Amino acid sequence: MKNKWIAVSGVLVGMLCFAPVAFADEEACITCHRKISPGQVADWESSRHSKEEITCSVCHGEKHKGAEDGALAEFPDERVCADCHEDQFDQFAKGKHNFGWTSLNALPITHVEPDELMEGGKGCGGCHNMGIKTDAQKKEQRDKGYRYQNNSCDECHTRHSFSKKEALDPTACRQCHMGYDHPQWEMWSSSKHGTRYAVKEKGKLPENAQAPTCQTCHMPEGTHTNRTAWGFLGVRLPLPEDKEWAANRVTILKALGVLNPETGEPTGRLEVVKAADLVRLTEEDWQNERKKMINTCSNCHSEKYAREQLAQGDSMMAKADGLMAEAIETVAALYKDGIIQKPENYAFAYPDFLHFMRTGGGNMDQMSHIDQVLFEMYMKHRMRTYQGFFHVNPDYAYWYGWAMMTKDLGEIKELAKTMRATHKPGK
Ligand code: HEC
Ligand code: HEC
Ligand code: HEC
Ligand code: HEC
Ligand code: HEC
Ligand code: HEC
Ligand code: HEC
Ligand code: HEC
Repeated sequence: MKNKWIAVSGVLVGMLCFAPVAFADEEACITCHRKISPGQVADWESSRHSKEEITCSVCHGEKHKGAEDGALAEFPDERVCADCHEDQFDQFAKGKHNFGWTSLNALPITHVEPDELMEGGKGCGGCHNMGIKTDAQKKEQRDKGYRYQNNSCDECHTRHSFSKKEALDPTACRQCHMGYDHPQWEMWSSSKHGTRYAVKEKGKLPENAQAPTCQTCHMPEGTHTNRTAWGFLGVRLPLPEDKEWAANRVTILKALGVLNPETGEPTGRLEVVKAADLVRLTEEDWQNERKKMINTCSNCHSEKYAREQLAQGDSMMAKADGLMAEAIETVAALYKDGIIQKPENYAFAYPDFLHFMRTGGGNMDQMSHIDQVLFEMYMKHRMRTYQGFFHVNPDYAYWYGWAMMTKDLGEIKELAKTMRATHKPGK
């Protein structure tokens, strides 16, 4: 491309008063797509790439040449971007987002839900299309008839502007980090941190007023790694030193199917959890992430203040785990006493959080109501209790989190009582 441009501009040497672009032999892709998808070409023209001669064919190849052979166009995965952006690719490859597709596919639930929501890129797949897919994963997707979703980099700097400014805006994270089990957007945007950002954006705080965004805390210095100490599920190994907390954690790990509920031994699922980087597996690994976060807070707060805030988040998590373990044990006793039947495809007669809201086959596709209340307590309300704390959002931490957990526990105990009273043995 560059050589061609030099040749053309050589011929035009005496005519520099004309805009050079008009004379560069524009790629056929651009001329034709300007007619069929003008908005797309306009976006590309607005990008740094267009100024750097990263034209359509650099990313899509040259096999597709005209209106009849669109199917020959290639869709660039992250490795194509890596040709020119090695640093970001390497950071991304080591990071948490790179596990999005893998962890999605590791769950039993994924395989009983509609493909449109997975490979089709809405529902779970709309957010978990993160991570460099293996050839086998790509083939599976193609075999099911799905052609797109080949690239994670365009999840934050969308095609075809590929803009750094866009990615630095906290709304770049919103589509995925919102809602049911991870409402970080709602928490941050209504916290003091988010409020300051909004007020500053309106020009009512000075330019140099400090207001941390998702990126300030989770992509310091532009690193593309995205990893936290506790992670999503708020569990880690080794178990906490506090005996009571450790015992509650064991109960939670059983309900995640990572420990065998009968023997307490690790199950095969622990390997899956390790492979998908679901939890920090050593104290050191956890401390490393925590240290990085405290460094970030310390730009604007005293280190002591930051440590205290995060330590309170940890102890809130310990309290939430106490309620959670009591609820799990109440439901587990119903399994043990045969009041809830073990669904066919469960490994154990014990609640299993990784099935989400349904058991996924067998004679009881619908989870029992009490199991659903328990799941919601874990996946929605326990998460909110500590996510709200870490994101400095009082309402999420209390009303949407802790208060709902206490309500769930009450409901579970009430339901269990009724189920025992009305149970007919042998049914
Ligand atoms: C003569 C017109 C023409 C030229 C030249 C052309 N395209 Fe296309 N392209 C099309 C048409 C028409 C389609 C099919 C669009 C559709 O199915 O909606 C298409 C499809 C595509 C697709 C796939 C869209 C999809 O959703 O499957 C990509 C990517 C693409 N073109 C990029 C390019 C690139 C890169 C070049 C240059 C190497 C190029 N095009 C050259 C007309 C053209
Ligand atoms: C820097 C790389 C890059 C460049 C340059 C680029 N594209 Fe793309 N394009 C992508 C990525 C990434 C996707 C999304 C692929 C996926 O989802 O599988 C995409 C998707 C597409 C699609 C199909 C999806 C859609 O939204 O319609 C078309 C058509 C397309 N590009 C056309 C073009 C045209 C025309 C140009 C030049 C004006 C161009 N691209 C330049 C990276 C690029
Ligand atoms: C052939 C080389 C090349 C390829 C391939 C390429 N880029 Fe770039 N990209 C550049 C150059 C050159 C720049 C401008 C200088 C810089 O920022 O490094 C740039 C800039 C960027 C920027 C910063 C834009 C800004 O607003 O400052 C982003 C984001 C980006 N590219 C993303 C991507 C993504 C995502 C892909 C893959 C879909 C990709 N690039 C593929 C060469 C490339
Ligand atoms: C709105 C976007 C979105 C949807 C829809 C979604 N997820 Fe997620 N998922 C996320 C985000 C964001 C995280 C990380 C959140 C966090 O750390 O707080 C996540 C975390 C996870 C994790 C834990 C990953 C880890 O490494 O800690 C699993 C497993 C998971 N999701 C599975 C699913 C399944 C299965 C579905 C569909 C039934 C689904 N997700 C639907 C966005 C989504
Ligand atoms: C002021 C700093 C700060 C800001 C701003 C911030 N976070 Fe966080 N975030 C944290 C801290 C602290 C944790 C917990 C870290 C730990 O485990 O030690 C966390 C945890 C997370 C986690 C993993 C645990 C979980 O499930 O909550 C995700 C995902 C996350 N944040 C996403 C976001 C998103 C998206 C935004 C913007 C909408 C955001 N954060 C804004 C500090 C911040
Ligand atoms: C989670 C969102 C997110 C994803 C996914 C993402 N980026 Fe970025 N990217 C950002 C943010 C935010 C910045 C701005 C960082 C900064 O300067 O602080 C950025 C900046 C960049 C830049 C400009 C660097 C510079 O300083 O000029 C390039 C190039 C880039 N990203 C490439 C990539 C590539 C390649 C991928 C995929 C492997 C990718 N990004 C995936 C959020 C993302
Ligand atoms: C396309 C959806 C999507 C977008 C956009 C997105 N994320 Fe994520 N994010 C995810 C998913 C999915 C996960 C969980 C990955 C996994 O399964 O391991 C995740 C995980 C994370 C984690 C790791 C939490 C942990 O477990 O330690 C952080 C931090 C995070 N994202 C921050 C961000 C920030 C900051 C942005 C915006 C700059 C962003 N994300 C944009 C989908 C997204
Ligand atoms: C870029 C600067 C910046 C960073 C980084 C930052 N904060 Fe803040 N934070 C502020 C500002 C400014 C306020 C508003 C102070 C006030 O309420 O008077 C604030 C408010 C708070 C508040 C609420 C105080 C109150 O009075 O209600 C807490 C708690 C807090 N931050 C904790 C943290 C933690 C924990 C971290 C790191 C995970 C962090 N902050 C990172 C700037 C920052």
